[in-house]
Amino acid sequence: MLKLSPSILAADFTILGEQMSKVEEGGCDYFHFDVMDGMFVPNISFGIPVLASVRKFTKKTLDVHLMVQDPERYIDKFIDSGADIVTVHKEATDDALSALRAIRRRGKRAGLAIKPYTDTKELIPFFGEADMFLIMTVEPGFGGQKYMDICTDKIKALRGSLREAGLDTDIQVDGGITRDNINTVIDAGANVIVMGSSVFSGDIKGNAAYFTELFRTYNKGEIQ
Ligand code: DX5
Ligand code: ZN
Repeated sequence: MLKLSPSILAADFTILGEQMSKVEEGGCDYFHFDVMDGMFVPNISFGIPVLASVRKFTKKTLDVHLMVQDPERYIDKFIDSGADIVTVHKEATDDALSALRAIRRRGKRAGLAIKPYTDTKELIPFFGEADMFLIMTVEPGFGGQKYMDICTDKIKALRGSLREAGLDTDIQVDGGITRDNINTVIDAGANVIVMGSSVFSGDIKGNAAYFTELFRTYNKGEIQ
């Protein structure tokens, strides 16, 4: 099933609630919450207090992407503040397995992310331990970047490896996804689609409705 996860990093924070409502009117499955610590990535975004407010505002699944060094330090705090999915970066921890297990122990879905130049083979030891694998399609740290074409084959490779292992684990893509390349990433095997600028710029409700309708037709099998 295809799922749309708009990234609020691209929203106007002076009217965040209003813009999230517009997204929900158009349709979405999750909200993507990009946490950046200025260490693992060269940018700082937002954290626990903002998540706690967003949690009070929406019933949608909160898909928290921790671009944070040593994320195990914060897993419980983000779950306590409302995260439904917590994704950690393999490159940010010495023990991704215990981080994933800590998330699942709290009854939440665990995601494992890799940066564009990290080989998907590094995810194979975690098959069965994660509910979602995130393939970054831009260097993490900023919204509004251009999709990195080298990632298309990575999505295909990971979907192939999962299929061989008899798994249909979610593959999330994140960064530079637009109306022009959305079919490419879906056809490659991604099924959870993060979009910041493509949703939050211009006609927010219309953008969300466009992608929701596109995903509905894919999900119904009308588009192969
Ligand atoms: C980048 C973030 C992405 C980004 C997506 O580090 O993880 O979620 O906000 O924004 P767009 O869709 O504008 O590239
Ligand atoms: Zn993200």
